[in-house]
Amino acid sequence: MYRITDKRDLSPIDYFIEVEAPHVAKAWKPGQFVVFITNERGERVPMSVYKAENGKIGMFIRKLGKTSLQLYHEFSVGDELYSMVGPLGKPIEVKHYGNVVFASDAVCGQAENYATLKAMKEAGNHTISIQSFENAENVYPEKFLAKPVADEHYITTDDGSVGIKGNYLDVVRELIEKDKVDVIFAGGKLGTLSKLAELTRPYGIPTITTVRQIMVDGTGMCGSCRILYDGKVRFACRDGPMFDAHKVDWEDVLKRANRFLEQEKLAKERYLEELRKKGVV
Ligand SMILES: Cc1cc2nc3c(=O)[nH]c(=O)nc-3n(C[C@H](O)[C@H](O)[C@H](O)COP(=O)(O)OP(=O)(O)OC[C@H]3O[C@@H](n4cnc5c(N)ncnc54)[C@H](O)[C@@H]3O)c2cc1C
Ligand code: FES
Repeated sequence: MYRITDKRDLSPIDYFIEVEAPHVAKAWKPGQFVVFITNERGERVPMSVYKAENGKIGMFIRKLGKTSLQLYHEFSVGDELYSMVGPLGKPIEVKHYGNVVFASDAVCGQAENYATLKAMKEAGNHTISIQSFENAENVYPEKFLAKPVADEHYITTDDGSVGIKGNYLDVVRELIEKDKVDVIFAGGKLGTLSKLAELTRPYGIPTITTVRQIMVDGTGMCGSCRILYDGKVRFACRDGPMFDAHKVDWEDVLKRANRFLEQEKLAKERYLEELRKKGVV
């Protein structure tokens, strides 16, 4: 049912995977995510969607910890995932805004960048994509960038080896000066998203960003992904994952996002040891 139909490297740290899931692909809208499980003993993994077309879900995944590494090393085209649930979360409002910017600096954001701007372009907006990477080596192949759905496309790298030196905040600052931002969407590193919120706040520019939190059920039942939003408790999975960034308590979000680092590190080390014994890495 959830057969892998394509899988390839995007960079040394990220990969693309495409999975058959017709019921999910048919219902998915930009802003929503999926949760998959690789095998019957696997954990539930929330994932943004890059493309939902022809009964298939395309995703960009970073080789971060046990499950993302396992999917990379042990699953091939033709293999099946145990489960794929979705779409989950709230879709964003796709309508005519004028100049729509999407800024991203990590794997989930790069997927959302393409998916959001595709819909916004189809709705008649002028679309501006900013995609930030650490260095030239980590920049995705052109086919997987948001270039085809962007009227203007900017790449930044930390070291300036490709595109503009710096990160997307530098480009956003310039676009604001030129009065070219009617609304901005963004996804990626939580620390940069919190800075973006402060950058756009004085100008009153609507700023909608993904708020990633550790999710378990993904449907609002367990409370794991709770955030403070406008002084109230909200669940990133059910009420988001995209929120008005000016109303998010970023300090609380950043604190809660890292609460399982020790356990994740241990699981990754154990899995890498298994791979080393098998001679895979
Ligand atoms: C709405 C949403 C969309 C996401 N989209 C993407 C995406 O497009 N590409 C991608 O690579 N990753 C995405 N993630 C994060 C993804 O779920 C984790 O990278 C993945 O679970 C890592 O699992 P692991 O076992 O490889 O690593 P682990 O060692 O378990 O975790 C590594 C890091 O991944 C994150 N993470 C782990 N488990 C969860 C969880 N249950 N919920 C949320 N975050 C978790 C944490 O930041 C953690 O520190 C998304 C998360 C959310 C909530
Ligand atoms: S993941 Fe359980 S409430 Fe959101």
